[in-house]
Amino acid sequence: MKEITVTVNGVEHTLEVDPRLLLVHLIRENLSLTGTHIGCDTSNCGACTILLDGKSIKSCTVFAVQVNGKNIATVEGLAADGLHPLQEGFKETHGLHCGFCTPGMLMRAVELLEKNPNPTEEEIRWGISGNLCRCTGYNNIVRAIQYAAAKMRGDELPVTDPEFV
Ligand code: FES
Ligand code: FES
Repeated sequence: MKEITVTVNGVEHTLEVDPRLLLVHLIRENLSLTGTHIGCDTSNCGACTILLDGKSIKSCTVFAVQVNGKNIATVEGLAADGLHPLQEGFKETHGLHCGFCTPGMLMRAVELLEKNPNPTEEEIRWGISGNLCRCTGYNNIVRAIQYAAAKMRGDELPVTDPEFV
């Protein structure tokens, strides 16, 4: 076992972990933050996406011991002061159906909008290309991210198209 200290959503944790433990299991099982999902365990689906020192990563591809001394943000930390604009966007544009992919999509989109506050539709589609959704067909996810981008820029919010809700 190895002792690690990691800050998750602003709270510092010191834990004894098996060197083989994956970060996604540390998050879900040791810290009981089950908003981070496991869809494949093989780095394909993006359901396990979190932010590691501000960068979106698939937490099933990282060992827990590798995050010693680092900062992690999970979906549970997004709504600290009411819904995050991205969460509001997913709600307003029906950007989810079953919701399984949503936490990973949200965390990926956080980094996407931090790097590019005014992305084109193509840039959004490229930006979330590592996150799979089996339900929505992606159109409303793109609209959700456009909604959040507009809100975060202080622009007029896009009108929700009834065709897609
Ligand atoms: Fe990590 Fe699918 S569970 S990418
Ligand atoms: Fe079901 Fe995306 S909403 S997988």
